[in-house]
Amino acid sequence: MKVSKLLVGLFACAVSLGAYAQQPIVIKFSHVVANDTPKGKAADFFAQKAAELTKGKVKVEVYANSTLYKDKEEMEALQLGAVHMLAPSLAKFGPLGVRDFEVFDLPFIFGSYADLHTVTTGPVGKQLLAKLEPKGISGLAFWDNGFKSFSANSPIKTPDDLKGKKLRIQSSKVLEEQIRALRAMPQVMAFSEVYQALQTGVVDGTENPISNLYTQKMHEVQKHLTLTEHGYLGYAVIVNKKFWDGLPADIRKQLDEAMVQATRYANQIAKVENDAALENVRKSGKTQVYTPTAEERAVFKKALVPVHKKMESRIGKETIDAVYKATGFNPNKL
Ligand code: LMR
Repeated sequence: MKVSKLLVGLFACAVSLGAYAQQPIVIKFSHVVANDTPKGKAADFFAQKAAELTKGKVKVEVYANSTLYKDKEEMEALQLGAVHMLAPSLAKFGPLGVRDFEVFDLPFIFGSYADLHTVTTGPVGKQLLAKLEPKGISGLAFWDNGFKSFSANSPIKTPDDLKGKKLRIQSSKVLEEQIRALRAMPQVMAFSEVYQALQTGVVDGTENPISNLYTQKMHEVQKHLTLTEHGYLGYAVIVNKKFWDGLPADIRKQLDEAMVQATRYANQIAKVENDAALENVRKSGKTQVYTPTAEERAVFKKALVPVHKKMESRIGKETIDAVYKATGFNPNKL
């Protein structure tokens, strides 16, 4: 990250706290997706609720679409206090040294949003968020997005159709292994760079929940989309711990309430937004959308579930088993 950018952020942060008596406390919330995505809408909702519940004492400034920081930069900026709040995808916590979060990336581990919620709203979710504290980060909530599907410029019906292709993924070792299990080539890349990489052929394809694909116009540069729904992508809302703990107690309580409401909203709209995005992709006529048969999906599952065992030592067997227990997933019974 550029030092100048960082200094500007740090200065803004100092000013926002120092001038609390007269001016609203400014919370900078940075994210990488469009405003009209589940995360974008939930961030805006939180900003509105925070202003309402604190009676204007807090102003949440939302910076969408990587306008402030890209994926990797935003994590560094949060730790340094140059930005206060983020909602990175759960696939992006590995580089921070918290590898357990990559359990969410294991292919087919969640059969539905209901399965996912047994983890995010239960003890496993709590334990995962607690692992962020030693990094100077507090985890406030999990926000849903949705299930990822593969896209490329040629039809995808079997894992073999992806063989040898360069596929963009988020920065997760589990996702790397997942792509290798398909005998394709993983390419880690910041979200803001994906559209161009697809357009210019730097990568051949990618995986996304449809809301991300559509709002970045990736469907305009991908001829085929197969609704594999082979893995989950969602978020943890996180804050700089020092900043958060330093807020006046009454304000923090109101912000906690704003977050509860925003989380409820986020998780209500996620599926609706993804369904609407799929409808829009279909209407655009630019991408052929293919719904795999149960048998075709089962072939992907068979190819990808062995990734669970392979990633056991990285994620931690205990974490994986805790998720299996919460959801009832059995890797030996496909
Ligand atoms: C991605 O990089 O594909 C996603 O993590 C973007 C996001 O925040 O949904």
